[in-house]
Amino acid sequence: MIELEQVSYGYGDRTLLSDISMKLAPGSFHFLTGPSGAGKTTLIKLCYAELIASQGRVSLFDQDAQRMTRDDVAKARRRIGVVHQDCQFLDHLSVAENVSLPLTVSGRSLENPSELDDLLAWVGLTGQSDAKPPELSGGERQRAALARAVVMSPDVILADEPTGNIDWDMSLRLLKLLVELNKMGKTVLIATHDMNLIRSAKAQIQARVLRISNRQLQLAGADL
Ligand SMILES: Nc1ncnc2c1ncn2[C@@H]1O[C@H](COP(=O)(O)OP(=O)(O)OP(=O)(O)O)[C@@H](O)[C@H]1O
Ligand SMILES: [Mg+2]
Repeated sequence: MIELEQVSYGYGDRTLLSDISMKLAPGSFHFLTGPSGAGKTTLIKLCYAELIASQGRVSLFDQDAQRMTRDDVAKARRRIGVVHQDCQFLDHLSVAENVSLPLTVSGRSLENPSELDDLLAWVGLTGQSDAKPPELSGGERQRAALARAVVMSPDVILADEPTGNIDWDMSLRLLKLLVELNKMGKTVLIATHDMNLIRSAKAQIQARVLRISNRQLQLAGADL
């Protein structure tokens, strides 16, 4: 689905990621870890062509990101749901409107309006559907961000610190939703610092743990 081959990237002169290879196969579940500033968010941005590699090749659904037109990128992004680290919303719109925004901007609609209710129920936000984002708690915001990421029925979900700033019970609840998506066949990548979350996931599903260290990507495992 998404593949990086010997990819390097840096902001300005500083190389941040070097010779990174990674393959997100259909239905796989990956964690991405590494210290703050290691480049997790940057790597995720390379995965949806928000950034273009300075060296190497990034393929989105077998297309070379460097050669994709704006249109190609827009089409590929419909198949990729991103939960952004800062999960920003349009504060003047309701939760339901924010969650359905990806549909609105791409001129699509749900086949059945009740699908939006189902989606909000799935993330446990039925009661908050008319609320405005500033009225939500941290955990509710993260769940709204996840609902927005999956509203287009993407094949791949890239979640950047989806459990940052929320308590353990809420983290487990969010993880459960991501595990459910994976069991439905979606490809999932989660960037996180939280080793307990990774352990908890590994008890439920087969997950690979990738770690960025010294600009390189390594497969972590035995130490978890
Ligand atoms: N747009 C940018 N311009 C210049 N430098 C940037 C930019 N975005 C990120 N960086 C730098 O690149 C490095 C990696 O940032 P990135 O956000 O990818 O790290 P991260 O691993 O996601 O960190 P965290 O765990 O804190 O989210 C940091 O040193 C950051 O300051
Ligand atoms: Mg980050």
